[in-house]
Formats: sequence, C-alpha cells, structure tokens
Amino acid sequence: QDLLSQEAAAPEGASAAAVTSGQIAREVTRRRTFGIISHPDAGKTTLTEKLLLFSGAIQLAGTVKGRKSGRHATSDWMEIEKQRGISVASSVMQFEYRDHVVNLLDTPGHQDFSEDTYRVLTAVDSALMVIDAAKGVEEQTIKLLNVCRMRDTPILTFMNKMDRETRDPLELLDEVESVLKIECAPVTWPIGMGKTFRGVYHLLRDEILLFTPGSERADQEFEVIKGIDNPRLVEMFPLEIEQLKMEVELVHGASHPFDLDAFLAGRQTPVFFGSAINNFGVREILNALLDWAPAPRPRDATVRAVEPTEAPFSGFVFKIQANMDPAHRDRIAFLRVCSGRFERGMKVKHLRLNREVKVSSVVTFMASSREQVEEAYAGDIIGLPNHGNMQIGDSFSEGELLQFTGIPYFAPDFFRSVRIRNPLKIKQLHKGLQQLGEEGAVQVFKPVHGGDLVLGAVGVLQFEVVASRLMNEYGVDAVFEGTSISSARWVSCEDKKILADFEKSSAGGNLAHDAAGNLAYLATSGVNLRLTEERWPQVTFHSTREHA
Ligand code: G4P
Repeated sequence: QDLLSQEAAAPEGASAAAVTSGQIAREVTRRRTFGIISHPDAGKTTLTEKLLLFSGAIQLAGTVKGRKSGRHATSDWMEIEKQRGISVASSVMQFEYRDHVVNLLDTPGHQDFSEDTYRVLTAVDSALMVIDAAKGVEEQTIKLLNVCRMRDTPILTFMNKMDRETRDPLELLDEVESVLKIECAPVTWPIGMGKTFRGVYHLLRDEILLFTPGSERADQEFEVIKGIDNPRLVEMFPLEIEQLKMEVELVHGASHPFDLDAFLAGRQTPVFFGSAINNFGVREILNALLDWAPAPRPRDATVRAVEPTEAPFSGFVFKIQANMDPAHRDRIAFLRVCSGRFERGMKVKHLRLNREVKVSSVVTFMASSREQVEEAYAGDIIGLPNHGNMQIGDSFSEGELLQFTGIPYFAPDFFRSVRIRNPLKIKQLHKGLQQLGEEGAVQVFKPVHGGDLVLGAVGVLQFEVVASRLMNEYGVDAVFEGTSISSARWVSCEDKKILADFEKSSAGGNLAHDAAGNLAYLATSGVNLRLTEERWPQVTFHSTREHA
C-alpha cells in the first residue's frame, strides 16, 4: 500500500527506482503460487486441467482418455501435454486469471512420488488439498500435509467426486480435523450426493449453485438461486431442501466459521465440495485462491528475512530436473524468485560458488504460449539450464549475499544397498552417486564402518530413475538390493564427548555419512530407533535436515 502511494505521489521523471518499487509491489500483490496435494486418484490431474481451462490455456477439457495406461513413470502434466498438445512445461504452470498471475506447481502423487514432491511444497505460498469424498483422508495426503505444516502453509480443501456416492460430509470434516489436525470451515455445503447431487449451498453468500453434470467448458455458468428460503427451491427439490436446512443448522452449530487469519496461519482450512470432472465448484476454488490465499510472503535467509517487494533480485533452487528434453540431456534448475525483478541477461551472485553468473537463457512456464517471458517477480518460478553447477538449496541474489533457509531433505522411507557388477567401475559409481545425491535425486549414505553404500528415497521410483541414470550417464551397471534398514535420522549433539561415545557404542555400527558429510543413524526397525533414542537422550535425532 505504502509503496503504491509513494509512486502516485512521485512527480513525473522521479527516480526510476521509486517507479520500479511500485511496479514490483503491484506485481507481487497479484501473484499466487500454490501446489495441489492429494492422494493418487483423488482428481488432481482433472482439477489441474479444469484450472487450465479457466486460464484459457486450453479450450476444451474433455476426459483424458486412456490416461491410466500411459501415465506410468511420467508426470501427469506431461500426459496432459501429450494429450492436449499444449505447452505444459512438465512441472510448473503459470496462467493469468482475473488480473492475477497464478503459478501452479506440480506435486506428483503417483509412482513418481519423490523427495521433489516434498521440496516443491517449500516453494509455494499456499496449497490446495484435494480429497476423494468417497474415500476421505488417505496416506499420501497425510504425508504432504505434514510437510505443509512445517511452514504453516495455508491450505484450501476441495472435496471431490460429489457426483458419486460419497461418505457423509460431516464425517469427512470430522476426519480431516482429527487425522490432519486442522480446523475445517465449510464454505460450500453439498446438497445430496451421487445420483441425487443437486449442487452446493454457499454458506457465506447464502446462495445455491445448481449442479448440471457434464460441463466441459470453463465459461459454463451454473444457475445460482439466491437464499436458502427461496420458494423455488422447495418446488424443485422439496425433500433435499428440508434435509439441507437441517444440515446447515447443524453445520453452523458444530463447525467453525471461516476465519481469514486462522487460514493464513495454517490453522484452519476452508472446505469446498464439488466435482472436478464436471467442472463444478472449480470456479469457487479459484476465486478463493485469489481472494484469500496469500501473495508471496517474506522468506527467511540466514542473515534476515527477505521481503518480496525488495528491489534487488533474489531466489533459491528447490528442484533440479534432468532430461526434460532427452535429445539434449539437459538439466533444469527450478528457482523460486523471492524478491525483486528478474530480467533475462541479468548478472546475479551464485552464493555457494561465490561467483557472478549471467543468466542469459532461462525457461519460463507460461501455460498459454511458448513465448519467452523476459521478467519474473516474487512467487514466479524460472528454469535455469544447469550444467552441474547448481544444487538444491542454492541461493542467487543481486547485491547483498543471501542464503535462503528452509529447503529440507527428508528422512527416506525406502532403502537399497548398491553393488556394481564390474568392480573397475567403482569410481564412476561413487562419482555418479555423489552427483545424483547433490542433485537431490536420491540420498546416499556411506556407512562409517565400511560396507555397501546405502541409498534412501521417499518414493521407490527414485531408485529406478537412479539406476537408469547411472547406466546412461555414468556407464555403471548397478545392482540395488533390499536392506535391513527401515528408517534414517540425522543426528546431532551439542556435547562433542557424548557424540564421540555414541559413535563408539554399539549404536555406532548403524551410523553413516550422507552425501554432504552429515552423520545419520540408520535404524533397522521402529523399535530399534526408539530404544536408541531412549538410550541416548542427549543426542537429537532429526527427521529432516536443511540444505547445508
Ligand atoms: P489424480 O491426478 O489425483 O490421480 O486423479 P485423476 O484426475 O487422474 O482422477 C482419477 C480418476 O477420478 C479418473 O478416473 C477421473 O476421471 C476421476 N474423477 C476425477 N474427478 C472426478 C469427479 O468429480 N467425479 C467422478 N465421478 N470422477 C472423477 P479414471 O477412471 O481413473 O480415469 P479416466 O479413464 O476417467 O481418465
């Protein structure tokens, strides 16, 4: 606000800097950067497609046929791209709606679920949780929500598939509250379900949105009836309306009213009911995202918090994707802009390498065109071609050196030990794993007391990717085998002597160093981990570690 009025007050020809800061503030205010979190099959792809429809990026959605057979190991978005022939640059999608710039980041929920999925959530300002209303809260949703909780990311909830027989809506809210430990504030309420799904009642606007199935187009307007007591409703659905009135009374009494501050603090989630495939309820979600979800927020760096409206450019790398274009064997580093204005060709400092780099070629992710965008602001994601000189967590800035924090590595859930068929390739194996580890493709643990290297991942597909990349990029034919390890925790201890005792104890046999040289405890079972934690109360066992 201040920046805007400053600009208005500045006389013509005033310093370019003042004008630029006004421009930056305006651009930041109109940006929304979010990710969709869901369990496989809840409807993320379908909803993504419908959101693209609103942006005008695609004209007609239509059910993507045969998606199942083709989606193994590829991102859903690539599938959409294939099916639609549109430019969905794999995992980031930018579109404009109602004079806002929306950046939608893909968080794979399928076989390609990986550490990326988690880290992408560190680059968003809000998240949309999609739940299959017939199934309720599922496992991967719980995992992803826990990651959002680390930064108190505001969450919107979409209860999908109301055109099917679903679970009782009140029970669904109850489950979200008890399992995910987040307060629910229903904003729309369903009228019936499955064959008798009539639409939703908007609790804040006292309006009924009538459902008609099979809406392929975004400009489809659903009929709105004002007021729950409107006599037309009784004529149309006498039975359902009585039921609705009872439920609304119950909901008003039993649930929380929407509270913007509680939402922004990540304590409460506004809940919408609808049917993505029928495009029903999608507009309400998009509007809520623009009206309620936060614009880019300040980001913590080691020295201070960085405001998105600061003029000097800054940002961090949260994901590295290899082989986006198999013909070029390229790697793209995904950078989230945190402040200032990015301009193609600008010079920025690469903090870790302590070097100035000129960013002349950059990939941007407009949904509606392939045109190169020349500028970006806080909240936007830009893709930097990477020739092995960028790692996850790297910070880039103009002027002041800023190292952003909060880009974590997560304790893996799956483990493999690695052997190679040809012992002469041991050097290549180590080099390959070192680089893939730095890239964040997999976590590599080297047991302190020797033995095979151990790989850790949060999704099993990571191992397949690593095996094929070792083969193709490093010429190493590696064999991955199951291990007795069930979980890993990074360890730290203020008291060096206790740590040394810990290393020398029997627990020391389970210690390993990760690719960055941090000490980790590889537990063989949940019981083993608990007992070790109990035996060594001064040692802290961390389930995440930040990029060093
Ligand atoms: P995902 O990305 O979260 O895995 O889910 P996706 O959108 O692929 O949806 C999973 C399945 O649920 C798809 O059916 C999709 O058509 C269906 N679906 C999505 N939204 C709705 C909805 O609102 N109502 C109903 N009834 N179904 C919905 P599929 O049979 O797996 O694939 P397809 O052959 O239909 O493409």
